[in-house]
Amino acid sequence: MISHHLLLCATPAKALCCPDPAAGQASWDSLKRLVREWGLEDPARPEGIVLRTKADCLRICAEGPVLLIWPEGIVYGGVSAERVERILREHVIGGTPIDAWIVKRLPFRPAAA
Ligand code: FES
Repeated sequence: MISHHLLLCATPAKALCCPDPAAGQASWDSLKRLVREWGLEDPARPEGIVLRTKADCLRICAEGPVLLIWPEGIVYGGVSAERVERILREHVIGGTPIDAWIVKRLPFRPAAA
């Protein structure tokens, strides 16, 4: 079972959302490290595993680094290594998104009944 899938536009080929590759790389390094250290990719985790993917562009292209979290379809902007830690703690683990950092919401179409 999968709990969340996190996609980070960290070091895009065309630096539209994140002109400073060092900021994106630091966010990605933090995301990878914390997901591992906090046991979020442990297959035995009761809530399901947390997947993380480094994306080249998420079609937001502003206010990066940009982090998209499924299943909520929430897009965070201005992501940093420090913000990644709080997003994981409060949103992914705690279930409460951090409204102040959300730049877009991309909900799925409701499933047909
Ligand atoms: S370049 Fe990052 S979202 Fe498009």
